[in-house]
Amino acid sequence: MSKSPRYRYPGKAADVVWDERLCIHIGECGRAKGDLFVAKREPWCQPDLTSVAEVVDVCERCPSGALVYEVKDGGTVERPTSRNTITVTYNGPLFVRGDLAIEGAALDMPGVRFRAALCRCGQSKNKPFCDNSHETAAFKDHGAVGEQGKGLEAEGGKLEIKPIKDGPLQVRGNLTLTASSGLARWRGAEAYLCRCGSSNNKPFCDGSHKKVGFKSG
Ligand code: FES
Repeated sequence: MSKSPRYRYPGKAADVVWDERLCIHIGECGRAKGDLFVAKREPWCQPDLTSVAEVVDVCERCPSGALVYEVKDGGTVERPTSRNTITVTYNGPLFVRGDLAIEGAALDMPGVRFRAALCRCGQSKNKPFCDNSHETAAFKDHGAVGEQGKGLEAEGGKLEIKPIKDGPLQVRGNLTLTASSGLARWRGAEAYLCRCGSSNNKPFCDGSHKKVGFKSG
């Protein structure tokens, strides 16, 4: 039987689950208060060494969806942010937050219903998720967003993300795109975002995937 990519760290009041398929080592866990996560300790994560509120906070800060929590009294469950956002990171992936429906995401990846890091360099071996291949590929894009979009009449609601075969990410639903500077720039209800790494109009698709023969696998 193959080993599960999901690791459960049980606590009296809350469990933490870490998914190695999604982790890109952003390091929010390393900034948890107290001794919740301690590198090289066995087990690395011990939920009983901090408050449930801290467990919830640090897991929800994890931008890739690799960390999730399960509070045992059922009192706290993760909810989507009120606004769907995609942040275009500096030389890196798209950080997506909101009420997400990512087509093709495995059913046992509960974190990506709320948070995900999606590849935009074209090199990930775990598409549509980022696996840090942008670093070895020396992907360069500083995360500017040069357009403003059509605007929004409402925020929130389901954000449907469809990775188009050998093409861009089709995003449907109320969306705010934020540049790496932190500025909320583009607002609209439909976008086609580059995931081959070659668009001259990043973060938007300009059809370059055809010229470069992008294969999404
Ligand atoms: S953006 Fe991270 S692997 Fe492509």
